[in-house]
Formats: sequence, C-alpha cells, structure tokens
Amino acid sequence: APSIIHTEESINYAWKEFVTRDDDVFNVTFPKSGTTWLQEILTLIYSNGDPTPTKTMYSWDRVPWIEQYTGKSKLENRPSPRLISTHLPFRLFPKSFFKTNAKIIYTLRNPKDVCVSLYFFSLIAQFMEHREDFGEFVSLFLSKQMLFDGWFDHVKGWMELKDSPNFLLLQYEDMIKDPKGNVIKICKFLGKDLDDAAIDSVVEHSSFKAMKENEKSNYTAVPDYIFSKEKGSFHRKGVTGDWKNYFTPEKEAEFEKICQERLKDVHVALT
Ligand code: A3P
Repeated sequence: APSIIHTEESINYAWKEFVTRDDDVFNVTFPKSGTTWLQEILTLIYSNGDPTPTKTMYSWDRVPWIEQYTGKSKLENRPSPRLISTHLPFRLFPKSFFKTNAKIIYTLRNPKDVCVSLYFFSLIAQFMEHREDFGEFVSLFLSKQMLFDGWFDHVKGWMELKDSPNFLLLQYEDMIKDPKGNVIKICKFLGKDLDDAAIDSVVEHSSFKAMKENEKSNYTAVPDYIFSKEKGSFHRKGVTGDWKNYFTPEKEAEFEKICQERLKDVHVALT
C-alpha cells in the first residue's frame, strides 16, 4: 500500500521508469534492519574512509531514496556511481535493474528485533500506525497490513536473488559481531580496494556511537511533526536480542510459529 514514503506515482516511477546504471549500488532492507548503518558504511567506502561527506551532508542526500521526496530529477541528475536506498519489495524493484550489472546489498535482521525497533520507531514517526500495547503491535507486524508487504514476504521475495553474483546478503547480527569483517566483505563485493587504515576509518565513523552523535546521520534534523524528538531517538539501542525484553513467551511462540510457516521454502539461516 502507498505510504508517506511512497505514493502510487513514486512506486510506478521506481518500478517501470527508473533507468538503472551498471555502476549503481542499491542498499535494500526491510525497515529497521540497518538501512541507515549501510548508508554510512557505503558513503565512507566510496570516500576511501574520509569522514568529510558524513559530516557535511545528510545521509539521505549521500545515499538518496527512490521515493516521493527524492523525486526523479534528483536521482537522474546524480553522477555515477550512485548509491541508492530502498525498502521496495522485490516485486516492485526497478525492472531495468535486471538488464544491468548493478549491485544490490540486502541486509537481514532478526524479525523479532525488527519488530521491537519498528514499535519504537512508529512511536517517533508521526506518519506511522502505532499500537501502544506491544502485543497488539506484534499482531499488526504479523498481519497483511504491514508496510512493504510485511517482513516475511519482503525476505521471501528478495531471497530469490540470493545466489546471484551481483547480490550480497548481510545480517545485522553478523555486522554487530564483526563490523570490520563485514566492511571488508562489502569492499570486496563492490570491487573497492581500501587499505587497512581506510577500512578502520569506515568502521570507526559508522559505529552506533559515531552515528548517534552525528547530526547528519542521526535524523535529528527531521522536523518534529515527522519524527518526534520528544518520543525517542532514531538511534535507539543498536543491539541484538532486545526482543527478549518485550516479547512474552506466548507472543514469542506465536511469532515463531508464523515464522516457520511463512519461511518454510526460504533457505536462509537466521541468526
Ligand atoms: P534499534 O531500534 O534496535 O536500536 P534502519 O536504519 O533500517 O531504520 O534501522 C534502525 C535500527 O538500526 C535501529 O535499531 C538503530 O538504532 C540501528 N542502528 C543505526 N545505526 C546503527 C549502527 N551504526 N550500528 C548498529 N545499529 C545501528
């Protein structure tokens, strides 16, 4: 369903009209899976570890979205190589991509942590549907009303590309455990040859702490009527397993059952 992020027009533009270039790099996620983190990492990789762009430009200008605010001209006039973020489901991804050598990085996160993160985000984000009761929010998360086709179909759709050479699958949990190893992996995938000091700089400037403190990356510049600063901060915790603090054993069992049913044909190891 169209949301504030997308209108029917912006979806049609992205899907049918957007002209992918061979050197485009797409940062694809279901919301709350590490989108902003990847925007920072990609910016820093393309500046060879120099943090200047992350200190002088907003993350959404460095790695713009295919959505209604960005608009067509902003993407089309952008010099190559373009770094582009999107939450679009696979079925609505630019058709032109499939005729190119462009690359996609898809970041997966434990869905229960995604759900908790989205619960708090929907409190801050004034355009989102929120439920005060966490259990009710979980039911919304699992329902057909969930945005971007919902977590399960999003993952299921994107995993169709899992074995393609121009597709890199990352996991938020692995990135937390081994940020440097993952930055190296991303560099390899993109054919970017950074020396060790540059890689360390990418890791340092994309850390949770660095991003939380950086006003170009922490979304505090977004007006209050869109993201309410009173209700929380975008960079909330940045940890794994926070779901344990919110799910009751019953809700967890319900979630796991649905997870097993809906991902039964998808061969992906969730951490
Ligand atoms: P939490 O709400 O669990 O803290 P997205 O960018 O896709 O919307 O995802 C937001 C989530 O990623 C939030 O999770 C946020 O705190 C976390 N995050 C943002 N930057 C991060 C970083 N550098 N390292 C780890 N987690 C980060």
